[in-house]
Amino acid sequence: MQDASPNSPPTSAGREKWASRLGFVMAAAGSAVGLGNVWRFPWLAGENGGGLFLLIYLVMVVTLGASVLLAEIVIGRAAQKDPVGAFRRLGGGAWPLVGYLGITAAFLILSFYGVVAGWTLAFAFRQASGLFAAVEPSKAFADLLGSTSEPLAWAFAFLVMTACVVFGGIRNGIERANLVLMPLLFLLLIVLAIRAATLPGGLDGLRFFFAPDFSRVDSGTFTAALGQAFFSLSIGLGAMITYGSYLQPHQSLGRSALQIAALDTLAAVLAGCIVFPAVFFADLNPASGPGLAFVTLPTVFAEMPAGRLFGVVFFVLLTIAALTSAISLLEPVVAFLVDEHGFRRHRATLLVTVGAFLLGIPSSLSLGPVPALSAFGLSFMDLLDFVTASLMLPIGGLAIALFVGWKIAPRALAEVADAAGRPPLLARLWLFVLRFVAPVAILWILLTGLTG
Ligand code: TRP
Repeated sequence: MQDASPNSPPTSAGREKWASRLGFVMAAAGSAVGLGNVWRFPWLAGENGGGLFLLIYLVMVVTLGASVLLAEIVIGRAAQKDPVGAFRRLGGGAWPLVGYLGITAAFLILSFYGVVAGWTLAFAFRQASGLFAAVEPSKAFADLLGSTSEPLAWAFAFLVMTACVVFGGIRNGIERANLVLMPLLFLLLIVLAIRAATLPGGLDGLRFFFAPDFSRVDSGTFTAALGQAFFSLSIGLGAMITYGSYLQPHQSLGRSALQIAALDTLAAVLAGCIVFPAVFFADLNPASGPGLAFVTLPTVFAEMPAGRLFGVVFFVLLTIAALTSAISLLEPVVAFLVDEHGFRRHRATLLVTVGAFLLGIPSSLSLGPVPALSAFGLSFMDLLDFVTASLMLPIGGLAIALFVGWKIAPRALAEVADAAGRPPLLARLWLFVLRFVAPVAILWILLTGLTG
């Protein structure tokens, strides 16, 4: 049901709230920092020539990414609702369609995210068993993917963990866990980056990662970088709308958005500083696709003192990073079923988890036992990844930018204003990006990417 007036105060009584601004920033950063940083980013950078991809990616995060991130948080806090309900409450008309697009994307991403997180879990155990002392990581990875049931069992275990957290509501669990685990994850990333960079060949890896090679750029590079910026920042489908809906009024949203984006970018750059030196050390091909991180990381561990221990700790932490991200993919769909369709939280969680697992089956099989599950030269999983990250998220982001920039601009300015009611200096620039820069840039990249 639509409210009588879009400006009437939201009925947020009883809605859970983050305990502190830091807690929100850490939970949102926990959503942002995940497999996207360690698995997806190095894989795409490796396939798109390294340094230039990094540069294009950084420009997109600072301009479009940070702006849309703030726009989502603003929508969420203003509406105090799930993504569909938020667009209905603040916009009405056809706007809820943007929410439906987002909920669909969240479900699709969760299905293959669970599969990849399952690999992470499997590798934590393989590190613990000392397997990589005897078996090449590339062979261990191929063996895992070649199996029918093993990756699915791990994906199932991971999705059950995700469901358990979402089952109990999000506030205490996620907020508290992230406050401890995120600093730990960053510490490990830094230690590993130093170890990797000082391996023989490490400098060549860093050169590949940081030195732009302008001969490699084509329209596909921009599409991939845009998709990655949205995927990594968890924007474009309403996850940050959902998290923003648990915010109290009067906290500086602009500062939070910048901190979230900065932490996420730092994690991606550190991951690149681990993966690419390791690639050159182990004489691998940087353009070796979605397995890149899983093949290179155990290689670094094998060369470190106490590498087995580091390996276990790292893959456990990466699983946890994936968990805090997967929660933010599950939660918007659950919030939608609860807020819009009157589901009980437990039922909704169970339904979405089972659905995501079932859809994960063709993804998992497409990389191993059933290569026929493919189209347009991409496996089922790569296809889902492309359609969601490179199409649905940017389209969602475009709609979110237009919505905040044109439809609810006065309300949005009020949301980011300081205690005295003044919007900060950058707010005008932010609105300008949302109104003109983001729509034109996203449309242009989508069109050239699809036709080029
Ligand atoms: N950002 C997460 C990662 O980098 C993935 C993710 C979590 C996500 N929630 C999202 C991506 C919402 C898009 C939208 O691994």
